[in-house]
Amino acid sequence: MLRVAVMVSGGGTNLQAIIDAVKDGTITNAELVGVISNNADAYALTRARENGIEAICVSPKDYENREIFNDALLDKVNELKPDLIVLAGFLVKIPEKMVHAYSHRIINIHPSLIPSFCGVGFYGLHVHEAALKKGVKVTGATVHYVDEGMDTGEIIYQKAVEVLDGDTPEVLQRRVMEQAEWKLLPAAINMIANK
Ligand code: GRF
Repeated sequence: MLRVAVMVSGGGTNLQAIIDAVKDGTITNAELVGVISNNADAYALTRARENGIEAICVSPKDYENREIFNDALLDKVNELKPDLIVLAGFLVKIPEKMVHAYSHRIINIHPSLIPSFCGVGFYGLHVHEAALKKGVKVTGATVHYVDEGMDTGEIIYQKAVEVLDGDTPEVLQRRVMEQAEWKLLPAAINMIANK
């Protein structure tokens, strides 16, 4: 059984897709051992609790500086003894120490076709705003391993999604989630759990 820890900052629809996929057998040979958030109010933590998964908050606000927070974050992750760490809308840059400790064992979902619309500043709705501004006709989502950079690690899966006339960032975000993110992330976890 692959021990999977999920890190989240927000609503957690991707987390929900993972929980559902474990329940309905789309993901096999994996168990969710904990959900960690930097944000105590993240609805994702409620989703974890409601599904009997340990929900942990490690907020930078509770620590004197970034270094101490980073160490606390790594401590919490280590306590879960994960084989795989899944970043599902986690808005904190993963400390280098953690990247090295979990080399090729951290994956992230990004709501564009990397290398388009990624890197610093490209998160949440900003990604879709940029895609619409550029006028691309196709966007999508990418699951990739996490390295020291921002959205630069080895690509695992990508899925294209059409941009339609009249799309707003919100409408496009929803389509990318429904057609790509919520499928791609469970598929990547299942692939890693069964390889
Ligand atoms: C998703 O768009 C994901 O690709 C990005 O952050 C968003 C998280 O949404 N990294 P949710 O919290 O899973 O609903």
